[in-house]
Amino acid sequence: MAEPGTADADRHRLSMTILMTPDMSNFAGNVHGGILLKYLDQVAYTCATRYARTYAVTLSVDQVVFREPVHVGELVTFDASVNRTGRTSMEVGVRVTTQDLVHQTVRHTNSCYFTMVALGPDGRPVQVPPWHPRTADERRRQFAAERRSELRREIDRTTRGIKQPVPEDTVAGQKDTSGAGPARTHGVPG
Ligand SMILES: CC(C)(COP(=O)(O)OP(=O)(O)OC[C@H]1O[C@@H](n2cnc3c(N)ncnc32)[C@H](O)[C@@H]1OP(=O)(O)O)[C@@H](O)C(=O)NCCC(=O)NCCS
Repeated sequence: MAEPGTADADRHRLSMTILMTPDMSNFAGNVHGGILLKYLDQVAYTCATRYARTYAVTLSVDQVVFREPVHVGELVTFDASVNRTGRTSMEVGVRVTTQDLVHQTVRHTNSCYFTMVALGPDGRPVQVPPWHPRTADERRRQFAAERRSELRREIDRTTRGIKQPVPEDTVAGQKDTSGAGPARTHGVPG
């Protein structure tokens, strides 16, 4: 087992800091969401690959919500960690904070969760080292990651259900027994 404080013990964590420069801006003058998504993916890739010691690919990323704009000139830090391992997959969480260099204020702008899968030289999924949390924070993150994993499976099942063809005589998932045909959703009677 890795000794706490050694490089191996920290192999599940990664931090990357980037200055937001004017070439990263959108039409509103703030940082383009796509730029942040690219860095998020790079950080998740690096964290997962270094942890697994083998190439990893992005299987999915959960809902990303940009609650507040990130401004040009701010220093953005991406703190990533492996929160949970399956057999070949890993959940990597990324916490994004921004620092205003002039006013020295720090904001937590968003967090998101990637599912990465480790691949062997033949391009097939391979087993990853099982993650054993050591601190209370790591255990909390692993517990939350388990719950998110269940939620993803639930969303998968529900999404497959949504994709099923809708029978002709149903409106919004309810069977029409009135004989009046489909309900009108527009056109207010005079
Ligand atoms: C990731 C990839 C290799 C998985 O292939 P696969 O045939 O589904 O492999 P497996 O069935 O062995 O599953 C691998 C892992 O992914 C998980 N997984 C696969 N599909 C999943 C899904 N829909 N939801 C959640 N987990 C899923 C499996 O549970 C397994 O994890 P585990 O071993 O920890 O239990 C394949 O989907 C792929 O190559 N995707 C493209 C990745 C890529 O190129 N990303 C960059 C963006 S284009």
